[in-house]
Amino acid sequence: MHIPLSPKSRRKAAAAASKEEDERDDTTLDVLETVSQVRAKVYSKRHKEQKTIAFVPTMGGLHQGHVSLIQLALNKYDFVVVSVYVNPMQFAPNEDFDLYPRTLEEDLEKMKNLRENARMCVFAPKESLFGKGVDPSECAHVTVPNVGQGLCATTRPHFFGGVATVVLKLLNIVKPDAAVFGRKDYQQLKVIEKMVRDFDLDVEILSGEIVREPVNGDASDADSCPGLAMSSRNTYLTEKARKQAESISVALKDVADGISGRSDEFTPAMGANMAQGWVGFIKRCIELSGGKVDYVEIRQRETLEGPVEKLVKGEKYVVLA
Ligand code: PAF
Repeated sequence: MHIPLSPKSRRKAAAAASKEEDERDDTTLDVLETVSQVRAKVYSKRHKEQKTIAFVPTMGGLHQGHVSLIQLALNKYDFVVVSVYVNPMQFAPNEDFDLYPRTLEEDLEKMKNLRENARMCVFAPKESLFGKGVDPSECAHVTVPNVGQGLCATTRPHFFGGVATVVLKLLNIVKPDAAVFGRKDYQQLKVIEKMVRDFDLDVEILSGEIVREPVNGDASDADSCPGLAMSSRNTYLTEKARKQAESISVALKDVADGISGRSDEFTPAMGANMAQGWVGFIKRCIELSGGKVDYVEIRQRETLEGPVEKLVKGEKYVVLA
């Protein structure tokens, strides 16, 4: 159970935090472990220093993709809170909650390399945000219909409810002006945007580009997998599986290259052929590499409505795999 701070103790905590701030060395990155520490820090930044606040939620295992989201937040806002929390509610009992990479020391080093310690803090809760010893399935739970169904939810039906619930909790704890999510997890981004709209949450949602393994990386490096979208879970992949995973980005890029600059040639009659052609092509590329397809779909880019079976000129789509 989290006991909210009274206005008096909040002011006291903020004064103590800001005294500590004045005295501290800029090489130190603040790592906060409790909800009240984060609330006090944000209160002090916002009300004493009049700073704008951005928030980057992560589950740790940081890679360049996360770093780019943190950089995006630092570019647009005065102060950035990064959370590192492996959320039990988004894992089904048979999934990898115990195995999920927990690399806090390395994560902190990557954040320190940004040389923005004075403009950042890390929220790395030591205890479950759902309460010590409390089963998360006993807690209030957010459901996001439509965009939260199909695609990834077909094989992981529990997933988006768990993500939306913890993000709502984190937004209530940090109360940022903006929160940043990666477009790699496009359905997750849309789920969060819908939750924010449906609950009238007063927060701007920013999205960051997918960061991929370098295409001109060292080819002799067994780990090199040009174009593969960076993900904390890539560390699970064997060399063979990494090569299979690479087929997704290669196929998506081929489709994107094939379309770009060709909209003048598009006729209504081509709409259905193109949609089926792309989906079939991407599925085949994945299967030929030895991979197994969960889904390849074209959806409306903003609403995720679909699957789209016939393309219409002027509409904006996203291809998801
Ligand atoms: O994308 C992630 O890492 C997680 O789903 C998030 C948004 C941090 C919620 O646990």
